[in-house]
Amino acid sequence: MVKVVLKEGVNWVGVVDWNIRDFHGYITNRGSTYNAYLISDEKIALVDTVKSAFCNELIEHISELANLEKIDYIIVNHVEMDHSSSLPVIAKLAKNAKIISSQRGKEALIKHYGSDFNVVETVKTGDELKLGKRTLRFIEAPMLHWPDSMFTYIVEDKILMPNDAFGQHFAGTGRFNDEVDECELMEEAQTYYANILMPFAPLITRKIQEVVQMGIPIDIIAPSHGVIWRKDPLKIITAYLNWSSGAAKQKAVVVFDTMWGSTDKMARAIADSLAGAGVEVKLLKLRATDNTDVVTEILDAKAVVVGSPTLNNQMFPTVSSFLTYITGLKPKGKIWGFFGSYGWGGGAVRDMVEMAKKAGFEVLEPSVDAKYVPDKEELKKCFDFGQQIAQKIKA
Ligand code: FEO
Repeated sequence: MVKVVLKEGVNWVGVVDWNIRDFHGYITNRGSTYNAYLISDEKIALVDTVKSAFCNELIEHISELANLEKIDYIIVNHVEMDHSSSLPVIAKLAKNAKIISSQRGKEALIKHYGSDFNVVETVKTGDELKLGKRTLRFIEAPMLHWPDSMFTYIVEDKILMPNDAFGQHFAGTGRFNDEVDECELMEEAQTYYANILMPFAPLITRKIQEVVQMGIPIDIIAPSHGVIWRKDPLKIITAYLNWSSGAAKQKAVVVFDTMWGSTDKMARAIADSLAGAGVEVKLLKLRATDNTDVVTEILDAKAVVVGSPTLNNQMFPTVSSFLTYITGLKPKGKIWGFFGSYGWGGGAVRDMVEMAKKAGFEVLEPSVDAKYVPDKEELKKCFDFGQQIAQKIKA
């Protein structure tokens, strides 16, 4: 492997998963990477491991730099299996290494891999570990995005290793942000934030403020997925502050599904009305666009308008799936509108509104519905609904 050097003595030893397209339901169109780092000083530390399917590749990459038996510490920043499922094998080979994690990390390691991990040593925010010339400082980051999550900071090199935070599912040959297309990179960083970190927005704002208050200089941010932020690392921090603030454009996402085209007609009438009022619109049919991409579009939208036909007195299954996903991600500060069509009893609009209210969303009422095929009057109601939403967006 060509050596990937962050700074002298700090190497990337991770792997590239070029062809993963479904990461526990998140559609990863550009693949991913699992980043691990080897820090070589008087003592040697490995920060994180990789998904078990790539364990041999990780061993090869480490072996090019050090004998695994010479590793003194394995730092587990996060126990989710994309970063830890190689650990049982690595821990056996690196038989002289102490394993270090947060307290919750230790508990999770024991639950995942058994009582061998009772020996894990725990650290908390502010604890330091001397490697020789270098010092590792630990910063707990609970719920970013698991309870065990932790950042490792190399004091002398000014390198922050925040695990999942600031990551992207982005495979490629470039390991650093100045080696890849910036638009593609920011697109993937936004998708990653929207689909993984959105529920934790207030914690993200607070954690960034906490790190800033610590006064620690940062030259490099080395996350556990995607490229390493070497050129202007402040860019991704600024983007996170912006996303976590809930900042939104004058934009609406009209998301729907349809059986015989009636809800489609309504969606287009609403979208046309919004666009005519000067609002940026994305019109997304759920069986044409994955939830992953819908959520990314919603991140910077002020309004979300959801449409469903009624099937067996309920909302359509794809809409139900979408609402389950988006209510879990807890987007803040959006205006929500609902519309739909039905043949006889109805039920889709009622169910969608109920679900949105239960999630605490601000719902614009009354909703709009149409029987069988929307007539002129019902399409006019859709147009008026679009105008009403546009007014709210622009207020
Ligand atoms: Fe990349 Fe939470 O694991």
